[in-house]
Amino acid sequence: MAATDLERISNAEPEPRSLSLGGHVGFDSLPDQLVSKSVTQGFSFNILCVGETGIGKSTLMNTLFNTTFETEEASHHEDCVRLRPQTYDLQESNVHLKLTIVDAVGFGDQINKDDSYRPIVDYIDAQFENYLQEELKIRRSLFDYHDTRIHVCLYFITPTGHSLKSLDLVTMKKLDSKVNIIPIIAKADTISKSELHKFKIKIMGELVSNGVQIYQFPTDDEAVAEINAVMNAHLPFAVVGSTEEVKVGNKLVRARQYPWGVVQVENENHCDFVKLREMLIRVNMEDLREQTHSRHYELYRRCKLEEMGFQDSDGDSQPFSLQETYEAKRKEFLSELQRKEEEMRQMFVNKVKETELELKEKERELHEKFEHLKRIHQEEKRKVEEKRRELEEETNAFNCRKAAMEALQSQALHATSQQPLRKDKDKKKF
Ligand code: GTP
Ligand code: MG
Repeated sequence: MAATDLERISNAEPEPRSLSLGGHVGFDSLPDQLVSKSVTQGFSFNILCVGETGIGKSTLMNTLFNTTFETEEASHHEDCVRLRPQTYDLQESNVHLKLTIVDAVGFGDQINKDDSYRPIVDYIDAQFENYLQEELKIRRSLFDYHDTRIHVCLYFITPTGHSLKSLDLVTMKKLDSKVNIIPIIAKADTISKSELHKFKIKIMGELVSNGVQIYQFPTDDEAVAEINAVMNAHLPFAVVGSTEEVKVGNKLVRARQYPWGVVQVENENHCDFVKLREMLIRVNMEDLREQTHSRHYELYRRCKLEEMGFQDSDGDSQPFSLQETYEAKRKEFLSELQRKEEEMRQMFVNKVKETELELKEKERELHEKFEHLKRIHQEEKRKVEEKRRELEEETNAFNCRKAAMEALQSQALHATSQQPLRKDKDKKKF
């Protein structure tokens, strides 16, 4: 037998053998063990509510969970969309649910709505990032980690009866690869039955033509395939919320009372609230959680790790180990560091050279200035000397003139003093 044939045989997957048991072993209790473990651990479920201010988000949440969550009304004056998460511990029978409701406060209230979707996308990504960081830790504690990843986004559509607003389309398009979107028509009691039917068709048409992927209730599980398929055809659900209890017949029901009648929240002829509650909580909660992990988070994780340079196979389709990726990254980092170091050294040398040149230039300029000042000084000195000589000459000339004048004056004085004597002499002669 050829060596390659031997190799093929030893590498071949062994065929699983079917054995029949002689008696009861007990591994049929595995599902029960799983259930019991999950129940002890508790569950987390995170809902994101996106819809304009006052559309009925809080009322619907209160109606859905049959409780009153303390929430404050949003004003219409928020300068940007803000995400407000609130976590509650709920218990039904012995099942604990950590429910987080995230409100997109101020959505649709800004004059410029171009970036309204961004804080929502950033919030969803931040929750994925937190989970990824936990997964990448050496000491992970995913078992008791509070998973804040958004499992479903309830997108509240304003019951205009016309069509979707571009803000709705843009926001849903930006979110559809990150979260399971269930569109709902809010305050459905404000729209007539025939208009609602047309409105639903229009919305679905617009979502399809704009390539917006909304969450489809899964039809691969036989147990729920039929009901989910029926419910998919009812999307978007038209809901009414109310925490008010009204007496209908001899029963107290949650409803909205109007002068002309009562809209019963849980009456399927009045609205799709029950359908939403069934689909969201009773039938598909686990699928929403699973889709979030296996589809949306997986996509985020893949993109993030690829961005960080990790890949599953190298160019030749060979599996790429984490160690190799780390080594490659390390080498890349070191060579980058070296390049940066060399660049900085070169920059330093250039800077020193530049400074040296500048200093030399400054020195030359100073020297020139000094020579110039020296020349000016000498010139000034020469001029002063000349002036002094001129002044000396003038002084000498003046002194000569003064002496001559004095001589003349004394001669004149002498002459005038001699004259009376002669006159006296002349007088005596007579
Ligand atoms: P913010 O958190 O401030 O953005 O508002 P919200 O979207 O949480 O709306 P909220 O639940 O506070 O409801 C606003 C108003 O709408 C209240 O007066 C509710 O009674 C009313 N409302 C809520 N749901 C419905 C509904 O289904 N139909 C009608 N007609 N009114 C509703
Ligand atoms: Mg609210």
